[in-house]
Amino acid sequence: MENPGKKAVYIKTFGCQMNERDSQAMENRLLREGYAVAVRQEDADLILFNTCTIRDKAYQKAMSDIGRSAVHKKTRGAKIGICGCVATQSKDALLTRFRHVDFVLGPDHIAELPMIVAEASAGSRSAQADHVDDPGKYVFIDGASKESIATASAFVTIMKGCNYACSYCIVPSVRGKEVCRPADDILAEVKQLVERGVKEVTLLGQNVADYKALPEMSEGQPRMKLGWLVRYLSSRSSIHRLRFTSPHPRDIDDDLIAAYRDETVLCDHIHLPVQSGSNRVLKAMRRRYTRERYLDLVDKLRTARPGIAITTDMIVGFPTETEAEFEESMDLIERVQFDQIYAFAYSPRPGTHAATIFADDVPVTDKQRRLSALFDLERTCARQKNEACVGETKHVLVTSIDPKKPGYYTGRSSDNRIVNFPSEINCIGNIVPVHITKARGHSLTGEWKP
Ligand code: 5AD
Ligand code: SF4
Repeated sequence: MENPGKKAVYIKTFGCQMNERDSQAMENRLLREGYAVAVRQEDADLILFNTCTIRDKAYQKAMSDIGRSAVHKKTRGAKIGICGCVATQSKDALLTRFRHVDFVLGPDHIAELPMIVAEASAGSRSAQADHVDDPGKYVFIDGASKESIATASAFVTIMKGCNYACSYCIVPSVRGKEVCRPADDILAEVKQLVERGVKEVTLLGQNVADYKALPEMSEGQPRMKLGWLVRYLSSRSSIHRLRFTSPHPRDIDDDLIAAYRDETVLCDHIHLPVQSGSNRVLKAMRRRYTRERYLDLVDKLRTARPGIAITTDMIVGFPTETEAEFEESMDLIERVQFDQIYAFAYSPRPGTHAATIFADDVPVTDKQRRLSALFDLERTCARQKNEACVGETKHVLVTSIDPKKPGYYTGRSSDNRIVNFPSEINCIGNIVPVHITKARGHSLTGEWKP
């Protein structure tokens, strides 16, 4: 710990980039209140668990870490808070389950963190966890602050919540309905980040492709959606690179595809979760598109931006998924040739439509077998794609030293590949041209001649 006179906070983050950004925002709030950051949980006066509940594994992991933190209350009198999606899922029931926990604070209440910490210090236990869906009441707070360390790449929230109701997904119930952040607030944060040396911004939201700059816009009005926002940020700030995650395939409109064609600020990458390659399973998942429509979208994106890297999420073992339907997912992977796939075994989530109407009827052994077959295919695809990069020059945004190899730096190419290369000068925070000499499973190695 850097400053022994200050109180120290330790934040343990689970889950997605939205949670990473929220943890950053919580840390900034507390730095402003005079807190220091503890490197180890056992040195902290305040411990926050920023939890995730997307799958049962993430939920169980958070539960066991929270349970184990009781020891820090005993030894140090640390204050303990549960934040993130489990906070909204279980609310004050968490205060009953964990007697050592001081407060529960949902993701829509981060602005109230200093207040709830002060109340906890005064001895009260409380939960502030309902999601806030009223755009007039929702407060978007900046992830960055003057107190935090500048990084080459940063997250900026552009919206929160999700209006879909995919049958397997707990997110709409924990993150609430969509609320979009005004474009000028987003621009102000991007400009502030640029001033601090940030080169790349990832626009975040549970369904970013449904971003609407004007709250009264309805479906079918393509103007002033995500494509518009990309152009707006690109023309009014000097940000070098923009990314976004995650979009629902159904909301990718022609305007966004045109942005991929025209806007070089947009990186050569899209994360486009498909979930399944079977139309029957997609329907049971309530995804509201077909495999044909997804494949058509992939074609359009590749026409607009040749060489664009496409990554995806997939679920295996959704209730009632047959072996033949799983093979349709494998077939879709072969057709699209994804650059990377994040695949998961289905797990029922409380309160979701799928958990209510279906039994979790695909045996664990089948789920595991399907998952490993999928990963085998994914590795082959990813390696082939990486091998095709050998001999190319990639522009790499250098983010850190390579922790595994002394003298090497690491960063990301526009097409989202991890690139490692040796350098005698510190080039962190710069975009440098790297000549690719070697492909690995999920990364590339190259040379940079300054
Ligand atoms: N079971 C398994 N995977 C899930 N995901 C979301 N809900 C579930 C669930 N109940 C996966 C989806 C989503 C990713 C973030 O997590 O693939 O895109
Ligand atoms: Fe996990 Fe979803 Fe919440 Fe992100 S939004 S932390 S993935 S449950």
